[in-house]
Amino acid sequence: MTAKEQIDKNRLPEHLAVIMDGNGRWAKQKGLFRSLGHENGTKAVREIVEACAEINIPFLTLYAFSTENWNRPKLEVELLMKLLVSSLKKEIKTLQDNNIKLNAIGNLEALPKKAQQELKDVIDKTKNNSRMTLTLALSYGSREEIIKTIKEISHKVKNNLISPQNIDETVINNHLYTQNLPDVDLLIRTSGEQRISNFLLWQIAYAELYFTETLWPDYRKNHLFEAILNYQNRERRFGKTSEQLK
Ligand code: IPE
Ligand code: IPE
Ligand code: MG
Repeated sequence: MTAKEQIDKNRLPEHLAVIMDGNGRWAKQKGLFRSLGHENGTKAVREIVEACAEINIPFLTLYAFSTENWNRPKLEVELLMKLLVSSLKKEIKTLQDNNIKLNAIGNLEALPKKAQQELKDVIDKTKNNSRMTLTLALSYGSREEIIKTIKEISHKVKNNLISPQNIDETVINNHLYTQNLPDVDLLIRTSGEQRISNFLLWQIAYAELYFTETLWPDYRKNHLFEAILNYQNRERRFGKTSEQLK
């Protein structure tokens, strides 16, 4: 049986998040410019989006550009922004064909105007799609998101719209960029790095973490199916004992 056939359809992660890492090293290994690593990474994005749609994962979130990535060389940042625009133009068909709705999280106003427009356009065109929500984390940093959340809630407290005693997990969830998304169930990071890099710190509180050596441009559907099988072999206890779950 293939990995895909072994997947238990009743125990899929509802929300899968991916830190797509290793484009630069992939290029370096081949003696190519980093830009070619990023370009080849878009192929992996299409594969993974399609794979998730095939097995019916309802929410997929991809870390595409972090708040810290603005500190990369200017040329690389420019290339990544251009690649974002061209990929959105090209992939709208994949999204429509697979009934996928596009969503974005992060400090989107920091993106170049052209990228903001293209993003808005694709989000608008796919807004009635219902099979899966694909969220791109762009200019996203979890600490920035938490600061934004605290500011918004403080403002409401100051204006007597909410009392401090009533601040709970739901209130916080409702002010995060991810307000319409469930908690992350499975977080995958490629390229062998074992860190979170400021991604969804609040939302991964109880996520299963999966690290793989594969570099992002080499990541294919089967790698994803293997990761899901690995996830399905774990026991998620949420603080309880194993016996309580039976
Ligand atoms: C991930 O690949 C893409 C982005 C962070 C935008 P990297 O560019 O980080 O690749 P490595 O880590 O240098 O190999
Ligand atoms: C994290 O990758 C951000 C994205 C994948 C978009 P980085 O390659 O920027 O992470 P660090 O800085 O090495 O941790
Ligand atoms: Mg990296």
